[in-house]
Parts: sequence; C-alpha cells; structure tokens
Amino acid sequence: MKRLKLSKKNFGETAVLYSLTNDADVTMTVTDLGARIVDLIVPVDGKSRNIVLGFDSAKEYLDKDMYFGATIGRVAGRIKNGSFAIDTQNYQLPVDPKNGHTLHGGLDSFEAKMWASETKETDNSLSVIFTYTSPDGENGFPGEVKATVTYTLTNDNEWIIDYYADTDKPTLYNPTNHVYFNLSGDVTQSVDQHELFVDADRIAVVDSDTTVTGELRSVIDTPFDFRNSGKMNQVFQTTYEQNQLVNGLDHPFMLNHVGFEKPQAIITAPEKDLSVEMYTDRPAVVIFTAQFGEEGPELRGNKLVNHGGITLETQVSPGAVEFEGFGDIVLYPKTPYQSRTIYKIKEVQ
Ligand code: GAL
Repeated sequence: MKRLKLSKKNFGETAVLYSLTNDADVTMTVTDLGARIVDLIVPVDGKSRNIVLGFDSAKEYLDKDMYFGATIGRVAGRIKNGSFAIDTQNYQLPVDPKNGHTLHGGLDSFEAKMWASETKETDNSLSVIFTYTSPDGENGFPGEVKATVTYTLTNDNEWIIDYYADTDKPTLYNPTNHVYFNLSGDVTQSVDQHELFVDADRIAVVDSDTTVTGELRSVIDTPFDFRNSGKMNQVFQTTYEQNQLVNGLDHPFMLNHVGFEKPQAIITAPEKDLSVEMYTDRPAVVIFTAQFGEEGPELRGNKLVNHGGITLETQVSPGAVEFEGFGDIVLYPKTPYQSRTIYKIKEVQ
C-alpha cells in the first residue's frame, strides 16, 4: 500500500507551500498566504492535470491579487455601499472608490494575510489547519474574529474545507473559497465546453455593478437552468440580459438542498474524463466565470483566456444584510460559526 505524503517548502515572501498527496496520487498544494489552494493535480490517463488556477510564487499572488484559490472573508461578495446594521447599530466599511461597494471583506483582507498553519494526518487523510485572528475593527468590521479554515485531502479524492470562527462582539461573517476550476488543465482553453449541473431553481438577479437587486428569479426558460446539466456555453452564447450584463455568470444560485448526501453542483470536463462534485451546507453558491478579457494574467507562462475558469463560491448569498429571504450572516459571541464544503474529484470514464 502507498502512503499519504505531506511536504513543506518555501513559497517566497515568507509564505510556505504544503503539498498533500493521497493514495490515489492526487496532489493538493496549499499556502498560508491567504489560506489558499495553489494546485490540485489529478492523474488522468497516466498524465498529471492541474485543475485549478494558480501562480508559481507568493510574490505573484501579492502582485496580481486575483483572489485565486483564496479564503475570502470576513464577508464574501459585495456589501452595497459598504453599509450595514446589526440590531440597532449602523456600520460603515471602507468602500472601493471605483464603485462605492465593499468586495470580499475589503482591501487586503483574508486573501492577503499570512495565516498560522499546522498539519494533521489520519489513516485516510491529510489536513492543513489555518488560523487567523482578525482584530476588532479590521477593515471596519466590529469584533475580534478568530477564524480557522481546515483543508483536508482524503483518500476518497475529496478536498474538504471546514470553516470555524468565533467573535467577541456581534459582527458579520460569511466566508468562502475563491477556487477557479478549469478541468481541461489548459488555461488557454475557455470553460465554454465544460458541463455544469446546479441544483438551483432560483438565482439572485444582479445590477450592472454586480450588486444583487433583491429579486430572486426562477431559472426556468433562462440560460441559468442547469438543473439537468448544460454546457457552459449557454451563458456565453446568449442575448439574455443578466448574462450580457456580466459577460457570463457572476450570480448567486439559491440551492434547492443543502448537505452531503448528494451534490448541489457538478462540473464536468469537455472530454468527460473528469468531474468535480460540490457538496455544501451553505444555502447558495456564487458562480463566476472569470470574464477577465484582456486583463487575464499569465499563469505559469500561459495567458489566461477569457472565461478560463469557473468558481463555485459556497456561502449565504450576497444581499443578506439588505433583503429578506437571502439568509442571515450575523455572527454573535458564544455561537461559533461552522460550515463545510466538499469538492470531490471523480473520474467519469
Ligand atoms: C467574484 C465576484 C466577481 C469578481 C471576482 C474577483 O467573486 O463576484 O465580480 O469581483 O470575484 O475577480
């Protein structure tokens, strides 16, 4: 029998890279810079295929700051005008001067922090446990938040993300992971030929600045209907206004079920030789299709093509602080936050 392998090396800028290899020879590489996934390398037909977008050095992550593979917090997505209230107290966060909103917890948030890390090994899995204490008032958010994010690679080819946090004052908390999948392993290939399944009857409608409007819309008769699987192309080759507005997908899908019995989303590679199933206890997944156009960065010598990746950002939908029916992201002292998302790699053939 083979053995699980865990190794550690320097990633530059004081960051560390951990490589976790399971008995099926799947290797996941993660770094403490932003508690992020850097590589997910899967053997397919005797060849190694990296199915997530990532850079070669900590410096590139810092310079290019694309959120690739990072833990996002304290609050994923946009908080409109950076303002919210908890109970009767109003808060104003610093906003992006370009659009007046606060994205992904504000500038230099969880994705830019050096997280403390330790490793754990069981008979069937390897884990890296990342912790970060976000000080009271960081990026305008109240309360000191002690955050833990644990990445586990199992011998069943699951990448499990466990989130845990507690706070000493009422605050907002809605983390996610910003991994981009491209199951072809080729970042010069658009994901338009990937297949997507999402068990969601409704999406949250967005405005031209990608904030949610408060409307939840049925996917029936729209390009958002992935309930029986569909090619990603259906959201690119369409005149449907919500897709044209963002040039693809940048939308919360409201999931029809939560939990780990059956997947809420599945992405399948164009050659149908590989798929990734997503399981979560969160009520929504934001799917963004990397419409960077000419702004796409170089990844390991290859320029990322427009629509070169798909995110599956599990969370409570953005808009929760403004609208009824979007869920609740307030975290109170003594009631810790806990959630789990699993991405399971499957060979289809
Ligand atoms: C997504 C967000 C997009 C874009 C991206 C980061 O989660 O919804 O609009 O900002 O992050 O490039």
